[in-house]
This record gives sequence, C-alpha cells and structure tokens, in this order.
Amino acid sequence: MIRPMISTTEIDSAVTALGQRITADYAGRPLTILGVLTGSVMLVCDLMRRIELPHQLGMVQASSYRGTATTPENLIMNTEFLPDLRGRDVLLVDDIFDTGRTMSALLDVIRQKEPASVRSVALLWKRVRSQVSFAPDYHCFEIPDSFVVGYGLDFNGEFRHLPYIGVLEPDRSEQGSSPRTQLDAE
Ligand code: IMP
Ligand code: MG
Repeated sequence: MIRPMISTTEIDSAVTALGQRITADYAGRPLTILGVLTGSVMLVCDLMRRIELPHQLGMVQASSYRGTATTPENLIMNTEFLPDLRGRDVLLVDDIFDTGRTMSALLDVIRQKEPASVRSVALLWKRVRSQVSFAPDYHCFEIPDSFVVGYGLDFNGEFRHLPYIGVLEPDRSEQGSSPRTQLDAE
C-alpha cells in the first residue's frame, strides 16, 4: 500500500523554487548538471526546464545493494560515460540523500576530474539516517525515516512512474520482505 506523502503540486513548487535558486547562484558559470541514474530522471528533466541558464547534462550510474545486516554494503559506480568536467561547475543531482554514501563516493570521483566546483542536490533528505559529515548543498524536502517511492524512486524497480511521492507500507501478509532489507537502488 502506498500512503501519499508529497503531492505532485508540492513537488512542482519545490522544483521551481530550486531552479530559481540555481539560476541565481550559477549565472555566468559553466554549469553541468550530473544526474545519478536511475532515480534522478524525473527530477533532472523537471529541474533542467526551470534553470534559466545555458547548461550541459551528464548522467552517472550508481547502484547500491543492502542485504542482511551481515552483508557489507556495496556501491557500484559506472563513470565511463561522464562528460568532460574539467573547469565546469558541477551539480550532482540525486533523488534522495539517505545515508549519504552514494553522494559521498560520487563526489570523490567527480573531484578527481578537476571541476571548477562541485555541489550536491537531492530532492529528499533523510537527515536522521545520515552516515556522512556533510549535508546536501540543495534539497527540496526533509523527510522522516520511511521508505518512499514515486517520482523516480523505486522499490525493486517498481513505482518510479508515480507523479507523487508516497510511503511504501509493507503488506501485513508479506512479513519478512521489508523495503529496507530488499533495498536495491539503481
Ligand atoms: P544513500 O547512499 O544511502 O544515500 O542512498 C542513496 C540511494 O538509495 C538513493 O539514490 C536511492 O536510490 C536509494 N534509496 C534510499 N532511500 C530510499 C527510499 O526511501 N526509497 C527508494 N530508494 C531509496
Ligand atoms: Mg538512486
């Protein structure tokens, strides 16, 4: 069952405001938006249309799998298709800043490409779950520690198409398959 948390209208207003902030902050700069596949696709498309500056687009693929408590977390990154970032002002855009480990690892890779600057953008920020010493530079909504889907966010590859964000509540008849233990983020 999906319990609505953030409506399409609320997302639209927040992304418009984010686009306005970025437009003001990056005027005259060589901006590159770098989206994290797959969850950021809706945000990237909507955000680009609200940044009233010329900018370039790149995508980077990152996937993490969290198994049981005894299995270490794995993060796989595919950075082969990164555009040239040297001298560019890079905004790394992801759907959600959860533990922050994905952003942290990707920011390290980007910094090695000698950009002029790099900052992070997340639609959602689960501040209470953070395991890193930094916060996203831009975010739209801070949310509690619930597993959410929609507007690009998935559970087992499903629900990305929803135009709103909702909390995925486990079906009581399916004990033992909570989103947290099955999280497979592409
Ligand atoms: P982090 O590395 O823990 O910050 O996790 C980031 C990735 O985990 C995001 O890019 C998402 O794909 C995924 N993720 C974290 N929390 C959720 C959630 O509540 N719903 C869906 N995906 C999530
Ligand atoms: Mg993701």
